[in-house]
Amino acid sequence: MNENEFRIEHLKSKDIPSTIKVFNSQLGKNYITATFLRDVLKEKMLYCKVIKEKASNIIVGACLYGIIDNSATTELTKGHEIDKFKNIKQIGFIKTIAVLSKYQNLGLGTKLLQDVLNELNRKVVDMFISTAWEHSGITNVSSLLKKFGFVEKFKICNYWYEDSLEKKYQCPVCGNPCHCNCVVYIK
Ligand SMILES: CC(C)(COP(=O)(O)OP(=O)(O)OC[C@H]1O[C@@H](n2cnc3c(N)ncnc32)[C@H](O)[C@@H]1OP(=O)(O)O)[C@@H](O)C(=O)NCCC(=O)NCCS
Repeated sequence: MNENEFRIEHLKSKDIPSTIKVFNSQLGKNYITATFLRDVLKEKMLYCKVIKEKASNIIVGACLYGIIDNSATTELTKGHEIDKFKNIKQIGFIKTIAVLSKYQNLGLGTKLLQDVLNELNRKVVDMFISTAWEHSGITNVSSLLKKFGFVEKFKICNYWYEDSLEKKYQCPVCGNPCHCNCVVYIK
């Protein structure tokens, strides 16, 4: 398999069930729900791109991202101010990215994130934040983010604890509630 056998598209409503399968398998059951993705398509508060295998049309990866302002980044970081973002109205936000296990380490995460960052750059965004999942000291997405110039800013412990209780999703590592940490990366 090589990366030219895959194409990137914006999420369409018919692709929501397959996209949920990708998120459920990599991020835990019900962390991202079909209702959430339908709201993404309706309200345009975030965007979602998927990567498909051309031959089979199977969705093998997906990325949720958006454009937020500084007050929204402070909400995301649970009150930690980031000096660089002060008074900035458009900050690119990489919420999450996932690739099916069978298709990992083929460069597809890189291809998808490159596409998303290009799109955000075209929308005149030049500062970025990502809230990366850390479990057992491992941040799966760290080498991918660093490759694109993101640097680690700080860590927030038990980041998803209350959210996981409220929304009842299953962390792939802790189950419910989730005790994993979030590493905030910026660029
Ligand atoms: C993180 C993830 C999206 C990377 O996708 P991918 O298609 O494998 O990425 P690439 O093949 O482009 O590889 C990018 C880098 O990530 C590394 N990587 C891939 N899978 C990894 C994993 N499970 N753990 C740690 N690093 C991983 C690769 O070694 C590569 O690093 P390198 O370029 O320095 O060699 C994918 O591993 C995944 O879905 N992980 C589970 C879900 C997750 O943690 N998502 C992030 C939540 S914020």
